[in-house]
Amino acid sequence: MPSLVNSEVELAVKGFLIDQEKMVEVVERMGKELKMGLAKDTHPRAVIKCFVSYVQDLPTGKERGKFLALDLGGTNFRVLIVNLVSSSDVQIISKSYNFPPALMTGPGKALFDFLAESLEEFCKEQGLEDTPLSLGFTFSFPCQQQGLSKAILVTWTKGFSCEGVVGKNVVSLLQEAIDRRGNLKITNIVVINDTVGTLMSCAYNHPNCRIGLIVGTGSNACYVEKTVNAECFEGYQTSPKPSMVINCEWGAFGDNGVLEFVRTSYDRVVDKITPNPGKQTFEKCISGMYMGELVRLVVIEMISKNLMFVGDNSEKLQQRWSFKTSYISDIESDAPGEYRHCSRVLHDLGMMGTQETDKEALRFICEAVSSRSAKLCACGLVTLINKMNINEVIIGIDGSVYRYHPKYHELLQFHMKKLLKPGLKFELVVSEDGSGRGAALVAATAAQNKPK
Ligand code: BGC
Repeated sequence: MPSLVNSEVELAVKGFLIDQEKMVEVVERMGKELKMGLAKDTHPRAVIKCFVSYVQDLPTGKERGKFLALDLGGTNFRVLIVNLVSSSDVQIISKSYNFPPALMTGPGKALFDFLAESLEEFCKEQGLEDTPLSLGFTFSFPCQQQGLSKAILVTWTKGFSCEGVVGKNVVSLLQEAIDRRGNLKITNIVVINDTVGTLMSCAYNHPNCRIGLIVGTGSNACYVEKTVNAECFEGYQTSPKPSMVINCEWGAFGDNGVLEFVRTSYDRVVDKITPNPGKQTFEKCISGMYMGELVRLVVIEMISKNLMFVGDNSEKLQQRWSFKTSYISDIESDAPGEYRHCSRVLHDLGMMGTQETDKEALRFICEAVSSRSAKLCACGLVTLINKMNINEVIIGIDGSVYRYHPKYHELLQFHMKKLLKPGLKFELVVSEDGSGRGAALVAATAAQNKPK
């Protein structure tokens, strides 16, 4: 323990420090939940839903053509045109749209109208309004899929709560919004989760890729299962294709209380102030939407007890969500004994931060929260690898936490090695633009599979 850190601070973050024994227990419990999601009879009451993605073909590297893609589900909304020229040449033009925050909680119709309007504007700019094109829709929320073009939204996550969408097929809602404008020639829409896009995009260049992971605003993973085990797929016993990508929706792990032994009082506070209390328990311990708030809650408690930042101005920090998760990455980027990034963060928050002990304690709290996130994520990945029972695997990963946190990759790797059986080989690979490239690849495969 660093000597500059007050023992009260150490005590406060103790709950975030999960040991090997607890991690083994998480893997064990997650394995059980995963099986419940897959099996037809237990699926309705399972918390990890293991949704069938209807993606059965991993890319061969031979997919070609031009596809439109829409990406909704993170902090940005994007429209893309993806040209698969060859496996080493994928040309992407994309545009991020300023997503009015009110759209996240307003009526669903306004949301889909906005998507269609942005799509039309983009196609006009690219001179594509008269070109018939297929579209890959990356819609990163829990959906019960009934086909590649049919995804029923089960619940919103990550701060979204638009009315009139839960229980509906989001592809129809998008298609209807496009038709209301009537200016585009979209021939076919396929819908995928961002984890599936991440897996597909990585598998395009790494044929051994079997898992797609997102650790960004939200968290989730998908993996390649044997079709015969995907009991919720109506053709699981008859399909000629051996594999099915399963969208785990692991964010909901713990919604039935099985994760209480790794949660803290701070997690319970965060949960209460979200629009979906009691839901996405695992995600709320792991992902970027919540980590900053966890750190903030610990810090303001220490401030209220006069244990940190005594006499400093914490007015901004007292506001909910004011401590961004990117601050954690910044603060942990400082070399030991240095506080350049930390000072900038404090300056951003209108604080002086004159005491080295306070900055050290702040870093200590950040490390506790980010390490727990990486440990839990490692547990999740190990559960999937155990389930697939393979000796070599590549994991495609995307998301702001994984990309920008200076130690996340090392932490994941370290803890996975400690949990996996010796000799098992794995590689963690950043997956480039899953939501665009991945969506285009699924659209391309769907076009190839279409009866001529
Ligand atoms: C959603 C998932 C998504 C993940 C990462 C979660 O909140 O439920 O569908 O894959 O965020 O974006």
